[in-house]
Amino acid sequence: MKKIIITLGFLCATSFVAFSQEPGKNKLIINADQGQIVISKHIYGHFSEHLGQCIYGGIWVGEDSNIPNTDGIRNDVIEALRKIQIPNLRWPGGCFADEYHWKDGIGPRESRPKIINTHWGGVVEDNSFGTHEFLHFCELIGAEPYLSLNLGSGTVEEMSQWIEYVNSDGDSPMANLRRENGHEAPWNVKYVGIGNEPWGCGGNMRPEYYSDLYRQYATYCRNYGSNRLYKIAAGSSGSDVNWTKVLMENIGNRMHGLSLHHYTVKGWSGSKGSATEFTTEEYFATLQRCLRIESILQHHTSIMDHYDPGKRIGLMVDEWGTWYDVEPGTNPGFLYQQNTLRDAFVAGITLNTFNKYADRVKMANIAQLVNVLQALILTDEEKMILTPTYHVFDLYKVHQEAVYLPSVLETENYELNGEQLPVLNVSVSKSGDGTIHISIVNIHPDRAIDLQCELRGVTTSDVKGKILTAPALNTHNTFDAPDNVRIAEFTKMRLKDNILELTIPSKSIIVLAVR
Ligand code: AHR
Repeated sequence: MKKIIITLGFLCATSFVAFSQEPGKNKLIINADQGQIVISKHIYGHFSEHLGQCIYGGIWVGEDSNIPNTDGIRNDVIEALRKIQIPNLRWPGGCFADEYHWKDGIGPRESRPKIINTHWGGVVEDNSFGTHEFLHFCELIGAEPYLSLNLGSGTVEEMSQWIEYVNSDGDSPMANLRRENGHEAPWNVKYVGIGNEPWGCGGNMRPEYYSDLYRQYATYCRNYGSNRLYKIAAGSSGSDVNWTKVLMENIGNRMHGLSLHHYTVKGWSGSKGSATEFTTEEYFATLQRCLRIESILQHHTSIMDHYDPGKRIGLMVDEWGTWYDVEPGTNPGFLYQQNTLRDAFVAGITLNTFNKYADRVKMANIAQLVNVLQALILTDEEKMILTPTYHVFDLYKVHQEAVYLPSVLETENYELNGEQLPVLNVSVSKSGDGTIHISIVNIHPDRAIDLQCELRGVTTSDVKGKILTAPALNTHNTFDAPDNVRIAEFTKMRLKDNILELTIPSKSIIVLAVR
């Protein structure tokens, strides 16, 4: 049986026209003249926590390292991240954020206190990567910083002073302390998160209590100069819509954004499965779990719509991605996992879905940037590799700040053991120069899919394509074979009279640019 997926976005039901369908064909109708919503670039955001080797080894190696670096930050990582235009970076956690005391991470490095990272592996945290290092890293990669502030174990004064330290240009104690530490001008940080997962590692609170604390703490996060803070309340995990409801009721317009965390994970107890050794059934189950993001977004957005019909408050999915067992022999507290073509599909499908809800989803941050969970980059001392997930962000960067185009997709299903998933997953946008970008995921492990695309409301004459695929679902890049999964040119398609026909190879992601 086929499935019809209408990616209307925000248009009324008359915005698409039914089409007659030849049997056996998958069809996509793109309404190129009907886009209304801009896809925030911040949907393509990232997350870096003091966890395992995300910061230490993955980003920060120190100025004296033999690994080529700029002021202590790896050059290879800077170069890779600049290429994919990462719009924002969340830091320092995660659970770590609610035990982080920012004053530990400023001033001469040799005088900074050592602490134990109690959440992640019980290792020594020497605080050599702190506020200045993080904000400098953001400048080097061209990303906007997103500070996750400590509400769980920090004081109101401490939070308030961190904002003053990074943003005040006045003759004030924290601004002067920043100057003493070598940074004259304020950084004008915009995005701040008031706590993280307060229902769990961030304090085990109930939503009513957290709402009150939010109101108190956020009051003292002041605006300095012309910079306006974008305050993000810590939202729920997955399907806990009551948390969203209570925060919308109790915090309302005191927040600019409300976060949501969704991991594609088998379960929180017992084995989460291997990142690289999995059966077709496990592959299918992973994609099923990933696709749940759509109903989760629907549930949370419908509650937000009730309290905020004008869509002033952004939904910020500031942690998402796959979570498997750690690689054998690695520290269980470091959450180090490999990354295969399966993960690329999770990224492609999830980003397509965020685009679809771009009227409400204003930011998303995959967990995490380097060496942790669904990482974009893996490092081993001086070696660095790019994962399949990195390549998805590279392919999909064309959607950043583009206008979301409504489309109607008729797709076959991928069937396994009597269960079905749509074999194709699609998103379409139009960038400022008029180019239409179509990102398509074919999840079928061994069948190529014919697709006919009809472009309405536009005249087209040229198409170019790129593809990400590999011999097997579990193909991944290693330090010895870094290009097992990489982007290639895709040319097997035909465009005539605004009808585009192509055959999408099995287990692949394609991004097309139509002009
Ligand atoms: O990303 C790893 C952890 O997952 C984060 O620290 C926490 O916020 C979430 O539970």
